[in-house]
Amino acid sequence: MHYYERTAGCGAVNESLLNQSITLAGWVARRRDHGGLIFIDLRDRSGIMQLVFNPAMSHIAHEKAHHLRSEFVICVQGTVVERSTETINKELSTGRWELQVTDLEILNKAQALPFSLEDSAEPIDEELRLKYRYLDLRRFKMQQHLAIRNDLVFAMRMFLQQQGFYEIETPILTKLTPEGARSFIVPSRVYDHSFYALAQSPQLYKQLLMAGGLERYFQIARCFRDEDTRLDRQPEFTQLDIEMSFINEHHIQTLIEKMFGYLLKNLFDIELQLPLPRLTYHQAFYNFGSDKPDLRYDLRIVELTNLFLGTELKFLRTILDDTEGAIGGIRIQEKQFTRSELDGLVEWATKQGASGLLWMRIGQNNSIESPVAKFLPAHFINQLQELYPNLHEGDTLFLIAGPYETAWTYLGRLRAHLAAMLNIIPKGALHLSWVTDFPMFEYDSQEKKWNARHHPFTSPQEGWEQQSMDQIKAKAYDLVCNGFELGGGSIRNYQSEMQAKVFDLIGLSREQAQEKFGFLLEALNLGFPPHGGIALGIDRLVMILTESSSIREVIAFPKTARGHDPMMEAPTVVDEKFLRSYGLKFSKPQ
Ligand code: AMO
Repeated sequence: MHYYERTAGCGAVNESLLNQSITLAGWVARRRDHGGLIFIDLRDRSGIMQLVFNPAMSHIAHEKAHHLRSEFVICVQGTVVERSTETINKELSTGRWELQVTDLEILNKAQALPFSLEDSAEPIDEELRLKYRYLDLRRFKMQQHLAIRNDLVFAMRMFLQQQGFYEIETPILTKLTPEGARSFIVPSRVYDHSFYALAQSPQLYKQLLMAGGLERYFQIARCFRDEDTRLDRQPEFTQLDIEMSFINEHHIQTLIEKMFGYLLKNLFDIELQLPLPRLTYHQAFYNFGSDKPDLRYDLRIVELTNLFLGTELKFLRTILDDTEGAIGGIRIQEKQFTRSELDGLVEWATKQGASGLLWMRIGQNNSIESPVAKFLPAHFINQLQELYPNLHEGDTLFLIAGPYETAWTYLGRLRAHLAAMLNIIPKGALHLSWVTDFPMFEYDSQEKKWNARHHPFTSPQEGWEQQSMDQIKAKAYDLVCNGFELGGGSIRNYQSEMQAKVFDLIGLSREQAQEKFGFLLEALNLGFPPHGGIALGIDRLVMILTESSSIREVIAFPKTARGHDPMMEAPTVVDEKFLRSYGLKFSKPQ
């Protein structure tokens, strides 16, 4: 018997193998020694199969089985038999059968593990899981995540192939260019004082592929960004990166919609309602306080500024005296908040950084209970009823005031917080939508300059010449899902004058533009087709599809929140001699 002659997967044993002799190989998941009989749950990637060691079947195998411990790697031969009715395990796909073992070979032993791999075990510290990631990966849930990820990427390739796309690899070692995030840099041994940057995305290469006449490109692209990690962010991650020539926004969006229809149908048998809903950036932010609103539930922000224009409340008057000052509210129906819940929410909002949170509860006979009730004008309730025609006793309003963008950002967070608190997010729902018409530029008040909000290769919408920087909109679009930004893309500048103008507007001098992007400006003068594209975060998509709590659950070997790999222990200190070969030396730590 040899492990390389195994005849079935543990989870693939079925009726057709009944009474047959088969060979299995895998890990000892569980062991019960009943003296006479020894039971082992054998696990491989396909599932679990129960083995029985009976001295009457094989004395030698039974004797060896006494030495088996958790996670020993073994190979067994035996006959598939039916279990007695009372021992059938309905939880397992193979629960009706067991293997009467006639031969056992121990392929490798395992010492006691640092943590249990049983699903029912206590939650394991994440740092420990990542240190022993190869053990963590043996768990069914992790294997399932990677299987879904595999299926998804495979289906993406199938779909794009059918649509005439070429999969093309672009360099990872590239030039340092500003793309929003900080880059990882790699010293060159050959060129003095020179560094490569790890690609933050294939953005410029994919555009240049369009200049190269490839027309339809995609890549499952590794991207590197030296930013703080979060539950939906890793320093290295994977995008489905796409670029197309001779298209507009509509073509890209339709392609992506069609692809999602294909993926969800083929992988999960879900029918996606197409076309997807579309919101402008303004609609998303004004109604939901976010450019990536979670639309699985419909809690809206309503602007209440006008109700307070003549207010006696000094703190609100001060806010509204500012030209940007605004007040927005979120109304919750059919929930009686206790006083301590209301105080808890005020505390939560203040901790988030909001200037405050004001609550108002509709009482009997249209009365208003609120810490500021006595400062509200007599007709206030009628004005509220105009904004909320079905305002009822028991409804609660939560108000945040401040400069519009700030106040609405906190209202957006409050919206998500209330939804989680009230448990109104439907389980298993997937809500995809487009957010469009983003501002082209955003003002960096620290640096006192305008930056491109998406990236500077994005084309502004028509009419930009007559508009001020804050009015110009971009031909950019995001794909948003369940409160996450799943993807982003744009139509690009394909004429050099337009591109040069955008560089100019973000304060890059002609010389700087030439130095950083001379190759692009030159290419734009050598017959560049109109083009555009998008990139979708694959890790984020798998995280959402598997309803995982973090992106780290769907990446085989992720970094910790501090960008550390506890298994390999990267990053590591390198010795001075090694550095010298790059012409570098350490300075004192800052
Ligand atoms: P963008 O920077 O919006 O666009 O990235 C596209 C998508 O990639 C995912 N993503 C990340 N996922 C995990 N960890 C990260 N640190 C991370 N950063 C981004 C998100 C995001 O929506 N070149 C452009 C695309 C284009 O214009 O075609 C780009 O990279 O899901």
